[in-house]
Amino acid sequence: MSDLTTRYLGLTLKSPLVASASPLCDSIEGICRLADAGVAAVVLPSLFEEQLTLESLSVHADLERGTDTFAEAAGFFPDLHTYNLGPDGCLELIREAKRRVDIPVIASLNGVTVGGWIDYAKLMQEAGADALELNTYSIAVDPSRSAEAIEQGYVDLLTAIRAQVKIPVAVKLSPFFSAPANIARRLGEAGADALVLFNRFYQPDFDIEEREVVASLALSRPEELLMRLHWVAILHGRVKADLAITGGVHSAPDVVKSVMAGARVACMTSALLNHGPGYAKTVLRDLDRWLDAHEYESVQQMCGSMSFDAVPNPSAYERGNYMKVLSSYTLRDDIFA
Ligand SMILES: Cc1cc2nc3c(=O)[nH]c(=O)nc-3n(C[C@H](O)[C@H](O)[C@H](O)COP(=O)(O)O)c2cc1C
Repeated sequence: MSDLTTRYLGLTLKSPLVASASPLCDSIEGICRLADAGVAAVVLPSLFEEQLTLESLSVHADLERGTDTFAEAAGFFPDLHTYNLGPDGCLELIREAKRRVDIPVIASLNGVTVGGWIDYAKLMQEAGADALELNTYSIAVDPSRSAEAIEQGYVDLLTAIRAQVKIPVAVKLSPFFSAPANIARRLGEAGADALVLFNRFYQPDFDIEEREVVASLALSRPEELLMRLHWVAILHGRVKADLAITGGVHSAPDVVKSVMAGARVACMTSALLNHGPGYAKTVLRDLDRWLDAHEYESVQQMCGSMSFDAVPNPSAYERGNYMKVLSSYTLRDDIFA
């Protein structure tokens, strides 16, 4: 049996398989089932800036009801009370999870502006969270806001949260940056203990009969892993923070690839939602078998072995490879038939 342990966020984890935020981690039953199946850590569903802002507004709701402030915030986030357990429920879930499972519990906050809501980071720490994940899911719809301003906003937010807590902080990033390596480095320098690559954006679809925009949430496919492998391989050894992959991790070979690219952990959601929490056990068994068969004594031994700086031909990760890949495509003989 190989040594599956890894270091992530200053914690020793028993394997690189982490259950990322999803409804599976939104109940103590789900968390216990994941822990029983062997996942090394769980990330709880995010608490949203809008939820926390609304919570503080609702304290004054009687005074403010009917005013624009409250109505605007409430309307902005209509499903506020159905998505997760809400602020108090989330703190209680952290406490309960810490009592019931012996794996690290990572709490998650989603927001993009510095404000009073980030006091919540401290409450999560006090509730017993082992680390915090800052989920920076936002859509840059305002054409007057520059990339520089948006990126600085993320750095400022991380800095403000870092000032609140002593526990490690990870930042879950979007793939949509002009210079991902640069923002990754800046976040590392601003104190991110880990960077989680990449958030999945849920694109709305159109109902062309009703002419309505409809929310669509499709689970990921394994091909989505490739973009994450590419960027983790590029960033490995070039940023201060640990690296984690989320998006497209569906099997033990996907975990192997993630670690070889340079990730300390591979996070899984869609595959666990597809097959149930017990699937983690299968992935870990397959991972162990793979390492044995390939004579790896430990997971750490292979970490970064396929990174940009480690492979003999790093140009495979650069622009030059683009032309090569395009020209490698051959048209089917019968394409014009
Ligand atoms: C139903 C659902 C709920 C999710 N909720 C959150 C969340 O609250 N916070 C978060 O950071 N990510 C959330 N995610 C994203 C997952 O944590 C994960 O990053 C994403 O699904 C990519 O991983 P996968 O390919 O293994 O599914 C959610 C995903 C799904 C499918």
